Amino acid sequence: MTATPGNATRLALLLLTLLPGVSLTAEPVVVTEKSFKCLKEMTPVRGFFVDNIAGNLEGTLAVAKSPTGGVYPPGSVVQLFPNEVMIKRENGFSPVTKDWEFFEIDVSKNGSTIRKRGFADVKNRFGGNCFACHVQAKPEWDMICEEGHGCEKLPIADGAIKALQNTDPRCTVNDATRMQKFNAWMIRVFTPL
Ligand code: HEC
Repeated sequence: MTATPGNATRLALLLLTLLPGVSLTAEPVVVTEKSFKCLKEMTPVRGFFVDNIAGNLEGTLAVAKSPTGGVYPPGSVVQLFPNEVMIKRENGFSPVTKDWEFFEIDVSKNGSTIRKRGFADVKNRFGGNCFACHVQAKPEWDMICEEGHGCEKLPIADGAIKALQNTDPRCTVNDATRMQKFNAWMIRVFTPL
């Protein structure tokens, strides 16, 4: 069999996949307002929620559940609050933020709208810079703070976090307790949204 250019190209691609550090899956990770979901439709991991918009939820879960950390694969979506999102862009896209893009979104029963997106310069609605806090996580945690990863603690109680998670207005199923609904309402009324 003679190698047609098509076969030669295929062979070259095959050989490339064998080289360490070369990924042929560096497809762009395209994020639109449709990329965001109600938290309850994402996969819960301890206190936060994950998804993968590049179809690699398994890869995302493997890192999220690893006791020793790791590097989240492209397309990973991570959320603690309905309004704040981290999405892993394609390899090498933003080395400073380890390829994480930070989002501040508005959520309502009609869906999500992006208020701010970017890398080292995105601030949440309290003026806090996402990157400045998340960069404090020890390297093995890939900028995921949780608790005990090295980040400064959030000035918000666990119960309040749960109340906001359980009252994500995008969710069709709402299983928040009356107390959580009341707490979330109080937080939303008394914080500058
Ligand atoms: C004041 C520091 C601070 C700022 C500012 C901040 N975060 Fe966080 N963030 C944290 C901490 C600490 C946690 C872990 C909280 C916990 O699990 O109790 C966290 C949790 C998260 C999580 C869940 C995964 C994790 O790291 O535990 C995401 C996603 C997230 N933040 C995104 C953002 C985005 C997006 C912004 C900006 C719009 C932002 N954060 C601003 C400190 C901060």
